Amino acid sequence: MKAVLVDKFGGSENLRIGEWPTPEPGENEILVSIAATALNRADILQREGRYPPPKGASPILGLEYSGRVAKVGAKVSRWEVGDEVCGLLAGGGYAEYVTVHENLAMSVPQGIDLVQAAAIPEVFLTAFQALDWLAGLNAGEKVLIHAGASGVGTAAIQIAREKGAEIFVTASAGKHDICKELGATHTIDYKTESFAKVIADITNGEGVNVIIDFISGPYFDANLASLALEGRMIMLAFLGSPKVESANLGPILRKRLTIIGSTLRARTQKYKVKLTRDLNEFAWAKFADGTLKPVIDSIYNWEEVAKAHDYMEANKNSGKVLLRVH
Ligand SMILES: NC(=O)c1ccc[n+]([C@@H]2O[C@H](COP(=O)([O-])OP(=O)(O)OC[C@H]3O[C@@H](n4cnc5c(N)ncnc54)[C@H](OP(=O)(O)O)[C@@H]3O)[C@@H](O)[C@H]2O)c1
Repeated sequence: MKAVLVDKFGGSENLRIGEWPTPEPGENEILVSIAATALNRADILQREGRYPPPKGASPILGLEYSGRVAKVGAKVSRWEVGDEVCGLLAGGGYAEYVTVHENLAMSVPQGIDLVQAAAIPEVFLTAFQALDWLAGLNAGEKVLIHAGASGVGTAAIQIAREKGAEIFVTASAGKHDICKELGATHTIDYKTESFAKVIADITNGEGVNVIIDFISGPYFDANLASLALEGRMIMLAFLGSPKVESANLGPILRKRLTIIGSTLRARTQKYKVKLTRDLNEFAWAKFADGTLKPVIDSIYNWEEVAKAHDYMEANKNSGKVLLRVH
């Protein structure tokens, strides 16, 4: 099969389409002919040699896919050849074919185009895990979603809206409209405003109940200051820095705060299967009736993979960047 190979770790110029052995499905696995995959920041880090795939995972980039079942393992009962599926991968999405455990595959929601379905798995599973499983977001609570126009951010806004939360987001000014269309109540331009001050003003100093953070170091102090009593902060990335220069830890005790970090990729298969089932239950009917939608910024043919990486690295996208494979 053809796959995107990384000639040597570094810039996007090292990406090229080459030959790679087609994988064979194990007895509980399906072989998927990939229609599309989607970019994730982790792909850029992996391309640079800064995020090696977990043990046993394909070294090929790509954490999600949509496509058609091309072959089924001997013990597979859920899928037949030709079924349209999408899902999470520990690697291997930038290729013509990939194998996955049958319970990790999800049916393409009704009304969603096969290529567009590649925009769903990683961001909706991450956002659902963060808001529902980890933060336990309740109706009527206030949530702050940093990088609101990111792929994960656009999924998180929609899920928080469906849970009945009041939503604050930070994003560059040009991305505020899309955040509002998806359900954000308050948009903050973090480049010109202090989000902690805006939140303190709007909430009369009470703060927000939940923060979903991708920036970390530079935001840590202001995040602690912006959380309400018994607030929960879920940390998912270090887009700013993993290091904190200075922070007042007082609020952690005084406000009885909970701080949780997580990466989805490294979770066990059992955990991912359960999360996949729970997201299906929460979201699939909502995708079918148009309440939830994958937010797609752009679709590149996979021959243009380097261009797509450059685009994401320049922070130009609002929502997902897809690569069309077949
Ligand atoms: N832990 C997990 O399980 C998990 C799972 C999936 C993704 N992630 C991580 O979550 C993050 C978001 O992923 P994604 O694919 O949704 O990203 P994305 O679509 O590429 O969006 C990232 C956005 O973050 C904003 N941003 C970048 N650097 C920033 C900075 N220093 N300060 C403030 N905002 C910044 C930019 O938007 P603006 O123009 O608004 O600044 C950028 O477009 C990534 O770091 C990814 O690795 C973690």
